[in-house]
Amino acid sequence: MSPTTTTMKWASLLAALLVASLTQTSMAVIVVCKMDAIDGKILTGACIVGTNGAVTPLVGPGAGPQLLINSTIFYTLDVNARSTLFECASEDDMLIIDSSQYSSQTLNNCDPPLLELRGCSNAIFSNNTFTSITRSTAQPACTISKYGPCVAIVGATSQVTDWSFSSLDNTFTSTGCASIAETSGRLGGALALVRSASGGAMSALIKGSTFTSTMCDFGGAIHSANVSLTLQSSTFTSTLSTNGGAVDFNAAPPTAVHTQKLLVDRSTFTSPTAVNTGGAIQVKGGVLTIKDSTFTNGAALIGQCVWVNLANCGSYTESEIVGNTWTGCAKRGSPPISWCREHDGNDWATCGMEGPVECY
Ligand SMILES: *[C@@H]1O[C@H](CO)[C@@H](O)[C@H](O)[C@H]1NC(C)=O
Ligand SMILES: *[C@@H]1O[C@H](CO)[C@@H](O)[C@H](O)[C@H]1NC(C)=O
Ligand SMILES: *[C@@H]1O[C@H](CO)[C@@H](O)[C@H](O)[C@H]1NC(C)=O
Repeated sequence: MSPTTTTMKWASLLAALLVASLTQTSMAVIVVCKMDAIDGKILTGACIVGTNGAVTPLVGPGAGPQLLINSTIFYTLDVNARSTLFECASEDDMLIIDSSQYSSQTLNNCDPPLLELRGCSNAIFSNNTFTSITRSTAQPACTISKYGPCVAIVGATSQVTDWSFSSLDNTFTSTGCASIAETSGRLGGALALVRSASGGAMSALIKGSTFTSTMCDFGGAIHSANVSLTLQSSTFTSTLSTNGGAVDFNAAPPTAVHTQKLLVDRSTFTSPTAVNTGGAIQVKGGVLTIKDSTFTNGAALIGQCVWVNLANCGSYTESEIVGNTWTGCAKRGSPPISWCREHDGNDWATCGMEGPVECY
């Protein structure tokens, strides 16, 4: 897609959003970036600032934080010449990463992920593809990265109002950590979503995205920490993790942060595996809704499809589990199993939801 087409597309799509932010401040700007690191080659990338902005090539490696002119967004290319960190100094500017391609890249365990967005409110990540991306198992004497090799979205103290992140129409195939272990602690074979130090609540929408053969220590495809997460019309196939084979959802107690919700809607989980808990999804805390989704052939020590590990069982509502199909999720009647009843259109070919015995 040419820069002009990209700009025109977003100019129309985001007109409403722009108007909304422009009424607050005349300084808000949309930055659209496209990055490519294909077949093991180093990164080439460019960003357009504003609808009539010039194309700014990203130059590196190791050039340190550089300002994208006419914006408040900085970028750094890591010395590996593949990883880009974007840091947003203002809550108003909107970063869009669109139509980027990454393939056949091996990062070592200490490199940052290929893409990290820090403090970037309302960023959109669309139509990007990641294929055959891994972290090597060899661990040189350095500090291991907290994330999988692909994408990390991390909050910053500059974000005082509520903010969002959207992943639309992205494809991750064969991405993640080369081997998994709880002790390595890396988050998300495709996406790590971390509210971190931001004052505002973080929400994330993952829509129309495909995750195939992704793996990492926590969250084979997605790890989320203190985030309200919506998974919509997305497909997870053969994902692997120690906890949360496809998705590892972690919510802080509502006393510390706004109540965080996990909504799974019209999504498909096929052959997900967790070594420990939650073959497809592990839910820790928060509020849960799963509707019109399909779970098939999950595997885990405990909770072959969904493992609900709630500190307080009261926050779980059975009527929020609606219209799903569960196949090959557990042997009927084998403990620990709860909520294994036909209700609200759930097709319980086998039990799909499991939780601690006190939640029965
Ligand atoms: C963008 O940056 C250029 C170069 O610094 C400057 O001449 C121009 O006025 C800026 N445009 C806006 C809208 O700020
Ligand atoms: C992704 O690309 C397809 C094909 O060009 C297009 O139809 C779709 O609208 C794009 N999605 C987004 C979110 O831009
Ligand atoms: C989540 O929020 C809790 C409570 O504020 C905090 O202790 C924890 O460090 C946060 N986790 C992350 C990964 O930001």
